[in-house]
Amino acid sequence: MLIRLQKFLAEAQVASRRRSEEIIKQGRVSVNGAVVDILGAKIDDEKDIVCVDGKPVEKYEKLLYIMLNKPEGCVTTASDQFNRKTVMYYVKDISQRIYPVGRLDYDTSGLIILTNDGDLTYKLTHPKHNIEKTYLAVVDKMPSAENMERFRKGVIIDGKKTAPAYIEKAGENRLEIKIHEGRNRQVRKMCAAIGSSVQKLKRIAIGDIKLGNINKGEYRYLNDDEIKYLKSL
Ligand code: URA
Repeated sequence: MLIRLQKFLAEAQVASRRRSEEIIKQGRVSVNGAVVDILGAKIDDEKDIVCVDGKPVEKYEKLLYIMLNKPEGCVTTASDQFNRKTVMYYVKDISQRIYPVGRLDYDTSGLIILTNDGDLTYKLTHPKHNIEKTYLAVVDKMPSAENMERFRKGVIIDGKKTAPAYIEKAGENRLEIKIHEGRNRQVRKMCAAIGSSVQKLKRIAIGDIKLGNINKGEYRYLNDDEIKYLKSL
C-alpha cells in the first residue's frame, strides 16, 4: 500500500508524525538506498526498504479491531474475483491490512468485525466456538406459532437439520433470530423452511458485541472491553 513516508515512520513507532517529519527533513531517512529529505514522498510499505540513520525500519503491525456496519451490495472478502465492491471499500483509509472475520451475504447488512489478529479470526470462525449471532429479519409473512416452534427445534436445510435456534417477533413482519452455526445463507434458508421469505436481513450482534447505531458503511474501533470479551470466548 502506498503511504506517506512520515505516516509510515509514525506507524512503525519510530517517532510521532511531527518528529518523523523533522527526521526526514534532517536527511536521516533513505528509501531503497536514496536519501529522501522532502515531505510528501510516498512509499510502498510492502516493497520499499526504509532506513533511519542507516538502520532498516520494520513495519509495525499494531493489532486493530474494527466493527463495520456493512451495507447491502458488497461482498465480505478482501478482494472479489468478479470485481464487485467489497467491505474493504469502507475501511480504505486504514493503511494496515485487515481482514473480515466470517461472512455476511452480498444482500445482508450489519455487523462485521475486521482485524489483523489472525489468532482471534481463527477462534471466532472455528465451528467449535459456536458464537451466537443475532439477526433482524424482515419477512414477507409472519410464521405461525407452530412454525416458530419448529424453527426453535431446528429445521432441515440442504438435507441436514440445524441446531436449535432462537426466534421471536420483533414488530410487524420482523423477527429477531439467533443462531450459532455459520451455514451458507442459514437464516434465509431456515425462514424459507418455515414458509417465510426473508426480504431484508441485518446482523445486529456477535455474542455480546452489539452493532448499536453506527450508520451503514461506517466503522468504529472496538473498545478494550469488547476486545477482551472476544478474546475470552
Ligand atoms: N444467514 C443468512 O442467510 N445470511 C447471512 O448473511 C448471514 C446469516
